[in-house]
Amino acid sequence: MIALESLTVRFGGLVALDTVSASFTAPVSGIIGPNGAGKTTTMNVISGFLTSAGSVTVDGTDLMRLAPHQRSRWGLRRSFQREQIADDLTVEENLWAIADNLSGSRAEKRANIATALEFTGITAIRTKPGAALNTFERRLCDLARCITGDPRLIMLDEPAGGLTVEETARLGGLIGAIPGLGRAQVLVIDHDVDLIQRICAETLVLDFGRRIAFGPTAAVLADPAVKAAYLGIEVEHA
Ligand SMILES: Nc1ncnc2c1ncn2[C@@H]1O[C@H](COP(=O)(O)OP(=O)(O)OP(=O)(O)O)[C@@H](O)[C@H]1O
Ligand SMILES: [Mg+2]
Repeated sequence: MIALESLTVRFGGLVALDTVSASFTAPVSGIIGPNGAGKTTTMNVISGFLTSAGSVTVDGTDLMRLAPHQRSRWGLRRSFQREQIADDLTVEENLWAIADNLSGSRAEKRANIATALEFTGITAIRTKPGAALNTFERRLCDLARCITGDPRLIMLDEPAGGLTVEETARLGGLIGAIPGLGRAQVLVIDHDVDLIQRICAETLVLDFGRRIAFGPTAAVLADPAVKAAYLGIEVEHA
């Protein structure tokens, strides 16, 4: 379970997150909301890039007590709105950059990387340099990085942004299958509500830094406050 408790982040006078709480229990959960709602800020707090009031507890571990590099050793992985692929490294070397920082034998890591390449369908391009990858290949490589090393929590920030409908469907299938690989719980931010609906059992909706809905995705999407937020209409916040 990923338990967010009263997260509050201010940038000067702007309240980017305002006492946001939510406990995600689903294998794959979503965070949605209009531009500037606080979605990426939430992921930045969970990964330790930003400090926040409140707490983040994952399966009983208090993540706020761990420095960012300790969180990745613990099993946190994330992708960013812009992929973090090193252009001068091959696809496989990009995965080794993650694995090299983890414990375990070289043979275990090699097997783990082979699994990640196979799962994402990029084994055939494993020797291509990052610079030669197209957008979809970069996204798959990013996903492969996230599943390297037996992760516990994977956060994907707009993984389908800029992809075609077909590519989004393929990526969605892969994200939905991540829980079958191991113990990782997955959090996904995306503006593609169809994708969120397909792969996320639970969804948190943010608007102006506030939680306006949380729960089973279908119920959340039917909530008038959520519909109003997407239309930019002022509503009473609970
Ligand atoms: N480092 C920062 N300094 C100042 N303001 C920031 C900073 N990071 C984010 N913000 C502001 O905080 C608010 C929340 O930003 P955030 O990036 O979390 O939004 P988001 O929901 O991810 O939006 P998008 O869908 O556009 O990616 C926005 O108003 C943004 O301008
Ligand atoms: Mg964002």
